[in-house]
Amino acid sequence: MKTRITELLKIKYPIILSGMSWISVPELVAAVSNAGGCGILATGVLRPDQTREYIQKTRALTKKPFAANVTFYFPGSEKNAKVIIEEKVPIVNYSLGKGDWLAKEVHKYGGVVIATVTTLKHALAAQRDGADALIVTGHEAAGHGGAVTSLALIPQIVDAVEIPVIAAGGFADGRGLVTALALGAEGISMGTRFMNTVESPVHEVQKKLSIELTAFDTIYTDKFDGLPARMADTKGARRLMKRRLNPLSALFLSRRIAKLLDLPWGKIFLGIMLSGPKTAVQMARMAIGFRAFEVGTIAGDNVEGILPIGQITGIIKDTPTVKEVIERIVKEANEVVKNVEKKLK
Ligand SMILES: Cc1cc2nc3c(=O)[nH]c(=O)nc-3n(C[C@H](O)[C@H](O)[C@H](O)COP(=O)(O)O)c2cc1C
Repeated sequence: MKTRITELLKIKYPIILSGMSWISVPELVAAVSNAGGCGILATGVLRPDQTREYIQKTRALTKKPFAANVTFYFPGSEKNAKVIIEEKVPIVNYSLGKGDWLAKEVHKYGGVVIATVTTLKHALAAQRDGADALIVTGHEAAGHGGAVTSLALIPQIVDAVEIPVIAAGGFADGRGLVTALALGAEGISMGTRFMNTVESPVHEVQKKLSIELTAFDTIYTDKFDGLPARMADTKGARRLMKRRLNPLSALFLSRRIAKLLDLPWGKIFLGIMLSGPKTAVQMARMAIGFRAFEVGTIAGDNVEGILPIGQITGIIKDTPTVKEVIERIVKEANEVVKNVEKKLK
């Protein structure tokens, strides 16, 4: 396969593994890159020393191109970005923040920069800030998808930018790949599909859940971590949505917030006292949301925890290897094209 993305990233297939916290770890990232796609290592919840260790581990598992992500909304992300730059990771993906300085640093060593966006405004800003490509994430996506669906969002951004676009949110098979290419994108990035693979470290309970859930079994709200996000409709998700938070909650949670931000507790306590009530509530929501996210993903607990999942979970019916997923998508895409050609005649 040849698209602007396979050329830019020097990969065989335009199929990317999204950066999923606790899931896009070296083993899964390397499996995707070794199968001809490109894995994105998630660093959002890692300390800088762990980020370095994970990058080196990924390098030991694959000689193929791979990426690492920086989610600017996550605490400690700038320290992780510095490690990624020092390690000269070949492809760097950033989201939820301004990446101009990052692009400059990555370009200095010849790396490629991909910005993840959910709006036209941010797509144009990322292009201005030096991004070489975009991951455009629609409303269907797991986690922080945008307000507009992939079908409407992707062609509008493709029309407005010059850099290549990777479509994300609602892609899991060959039909999806062909659709993305037809919309003008140059590849797809998948979270929900790769989460349910043999190599994925997500708890087995969640792999089974992703097979059982339909497209109607997810919730999209900003009550999880303060930004609109999509999660599986579980007891844990409903409990978290109902939880009322006030500035005092932030004080009660200050030790957890300090740990999350890797900062002294006294400093956080004072910061909460001095910050406005809105910031304090936001910090509390983030601390609770992150904990629930970790419990859901790693422990497979859907009462105490939550699980990001996309609407495309409705078509996921098995737990194949990463190689099987990629080969199946490529084969299916070719069949889809033939069928469509027949219909167009
Ligand atoms: C279990 C899980 C964890 C995720 N964690 C993150 C994350 O930490 N940061 C992030 O930016 N996106 C995260 N995402 C969202 C993906 O990066 C991606 O945008 C999304 O999965 C694409 O849509 P799809 O699920 O329909 O393929 C996560 C997705 C899943 C399924």
